[in-house]
Amino acid sequence: MADNCQSIGWQITVITGMMYGFAIRPAGQPIPGTIRGAMLMIDTLITRLPKCELHIHIEGSLEPELMFALARRNGISLPYASVEAVRQAYQFSNLQDFLDIYYQGMSVLITEQDFYDLAWSYLERARADNLVHVEMFFDPQGHTARGVEFSTVINGLHRAIVDARQALGVRASLIMCFLRHLDEADAEKTLDAALAFKDRIVGVGLDSSEAGHPPSKFKRVFNRARNAGFFLSAHAGEEGPPSYIWEALDVLGVARIDHGIRAMEDQVLVGRLAREKTALTVCPLSNLRLRVVDDMAKHPLRRMLDKGLMVTVNSDDPAYFGGYVNQNYRAVSDALGLDRDEIVAIVRNGIQASLMTPSEKNEAFAEINRVLATIP
Ligand code: ADE
Ligand code: ZN
Repeated sequence: MADNCQSIGWQITVITGMMYGFAIRPAGQPIPGTIRGAMLMIDTLITRLPKCELHIHIEGSLEPELMFALARRNGISLPYASVEAVRQAYQFSNLQDFLDIYYQGMSVLITEQDFYDLAWSYLERARADNLVHVEMFFDPQGHTARGVEFSTVINGLHRAIVDARQALGVRASLIMCFLRHLDEADAEKTLDAALAFKDRIVGVGLDSSEAGHPPSKFKRVFNRARNAGFFLSAHAGEEGPPSYIWEALDVLGVARIDHGIRAMEDQVLVGRLAREKTALTVCPLSNLRLRVVDDMAKHPLRRMLDKGLMVTVNSDDPAYFGGYVNQNYRAVSDALGLDRDEIVAIVRNGIQASLMTPSEKNEAFAEINRVLATIP
């Protein structure tokens, strides 16, 4: 009985620690040296370290509750009876299955305030996960194709970013993605529209259906974006083959690869990515939910670290894949047994690979050291 009480007490302590992000040591129960103690230490580390998110599609942070609220506000009817029914529908066999539902979900975003509310909700979550800096993808073609002005999208997102910096202390910037299932002419028109908002967009990316749409399809528009001074990244090697990663690097000239996990099928490519310290924005829960990996225990992230790749951990589309950044860290570290040094290395990679200024990076690295000093 006494044992039972102690065990229940311990569980409550662990759960409380996990919720609030600090380690409580129950009387007479040393944490160091036990498996539970190690797990709690990893969890505390994940919660408390200052982190960056470099791969989040803001439209993929649209939680069903907000989807319903915006649908009501805009007089749009959704093909779901309830929030629970929406969540039930989130069963995907592959990327395209997800994208079909993702584009449908976006249809509730109409006004500048809708885009503000979307970004603000995400940035509050980012604060809760102790993110200090976010690089946020958005898909303007998913909105302009429905008659929503480019300026409506950018004004709403930007206003939320300004407010979040002030009220939450989270820094965020915008990376505009081209939808690769559309043609390059459409991407060119989108770039033309973006040039008027150059001061509010830091970069250009490439997303949507990967198979059959190689990066080289967008060579000219990426060239123009580079000349206009945008940072460049592209989704490659999520479902597509390693050759798409080569193309993203050599034809588009991107500085960062989004996902990139299929690089592991090509050891020459792995060598190059490691040598050039090209950051890969890996999204473990996304990979599981889109069946790019069939079991988190088989996720290549650990092997990627072992090969010296600059791996970062991100959420991709958290409302659809069941977890924000900290949940991605937890899922992958539980499944692969990542240790303290590995977690810290990934967090540092995210900071190093970000577009923060050198002094902002130094401040984040110093904060990591301060946090580490408090966690034995
Ligand atoms: N758009 C939103 N999420 C995406 C993903 N995981 N891959 C490609 N395009 C996306
Ligand atoms: Zn993505």
